[in-house]
Amino acid sequence: MSISIGIHDMSIATGEFVLPHTALAEHNGTEIGKYHVGIGQESMSVPAADEDIVTMGAAAAAPIVARHGSDRIRTVVFATESSIDQAKSAGIYVHSLLGLPSAARVVELKQACYGATAALQFAIGLVARDPAQQVLVIASDVSKYGLDSPGEATQGAAAVAMLVGVNPALVRIEDPSGLFTADVMDFWRPNYRDTALVDGQESIGAYLQAVEGTWKDYAEQSGRSLDEFAAFCYHQPFTKMAYKAHRHLLNYCGHDTDNDDIARAIGQTTAYNTVIGNSYTASVYLALAALLDQADDLTGRPVGFLSYGSGSVAEFFAGTVVAGYKEHLRTGANREAIARRKPVDYAGYRALHERKFPADGGDHPTPSQTTGPFRLAGLSGHKRIYQAR
Ligand code: HMG
Repeated sequence: MSISIGIHDMSIATGEFVLPHTALAEHNGTEIGKYHVGIGQESMSVPAADEDIVTMGAAAAAPIVARHGSDRIRTVVFATESSIDQAKSAGIYVHSLLGLPSAARVVELKQACYGATAALQFAIGLVARDPAQQVLVIASDVSKYGLDSPGEATQGAAAVAMLVGVNPALVRIEDPSGLFTADVMDFWRPNYRDTALVDGQESIGAYLQAVEGTWKDYAEQSGRSLDEFAAFCYHQPFTKMAYKAHRHLLNYCGHDTDNDDIARAIGQTTAYNTVIGNSYTASVYLALAALLDQADDLTGRPVGFLSYGSGSVAEFFAGTVVAGYKEHLRTGANREAIARRKPVDYAGYRALHERKFPADGGDHPTPSQTTGPFRLAGLSGHKRIYQAR
């Protein structure tokens, strides 16, 4: 019998502020139904001036280290596409803020929103080789598009931390995976830009093509049949995308596309993403957190995961929810991470959006805004200075 490896613990964090879509709609004259119904978004997380992928990633990971200790963690994989440095892994700052052992390897992984799934699979491989070890996987991103662009309404920010190990308390990740890669320019961010470029309709088409591709490969690898799954966690750049994707998958497989069936398969996965916005690498795992936090009882039930990253790479795989999982959830803390955000008005959001560190190597302290456990105190001599509070 193969050993059981998967997600042993999971914790989320998001930004200090929240911009409701009503404020964005009022600014740009959009009919609010387009946001609430058309793309399925209510609000977006906005990081404070003294927050970034490191502070959110550390905030997500800290409760996991507090609960399990760090003795077994020999690898930290930080998945992001909002990298703060071209050379140094953001994970090293987290490793330091959390006081993790020096006998560890820490790396950063990138492939758009797919990166955290690569990290999860790499973690499983390491644990299979040495079941005594645990891997800390952190997915953390700030999604930023141009002001007044169509993508603006799909921005967001969040981190999910997962402890991967044997005999997981939450979800056992199964073999096989369905894989798909295609060279498409649907969404990208050249190194000289801090906002993404996107061809919106092309990106939706590329995502749907990847859904087909991963499922085709999953079926060829003798995966489960569609009707075995209790729910499906899709990457959610906006929550309506999960509905589009699932409808597409059902069509592709020759199934009925009954709205109630689709709502049953997706409905409980969107609660966090609809108020946080696109958190890129974290999005599909926020869908899992929302599902586990809300579903009645998923013990023994398989959940389908569709992880998509523009460019593009996608993976479909199954995870089985483990008996007793409810005792290990962080439902209260997850809800609090979202509820504690402070509303920001449109002008405040715009000022934060336009904020940029000067590149002159000088001392640039940040205003003290976050009430989270970690803050980015500033930039000095081209170095980011972080503080634990
Ligand atoms: P848009 O042009 O602003 O909106 O772009 P639209 O005209 O396509 O309308 C959107 C929906 O709202 C439509 O529904 C309208 O009918 C509806 P649909 O036809 O899609 O079912 N609508 C209304 N509904 C109710 N009441 C109304 C109303 N008005 C219109 N009054 C778009 C939307 C998502 C393309 C844009 O926001 C965008 O470019 N977003 C960024 C790209 C994106 O999220 N792509 C998703 C797939 S790619 C991906 O997932 C990867 C990504 O996460 C990056 C990564 O991998 O790193 C992005």
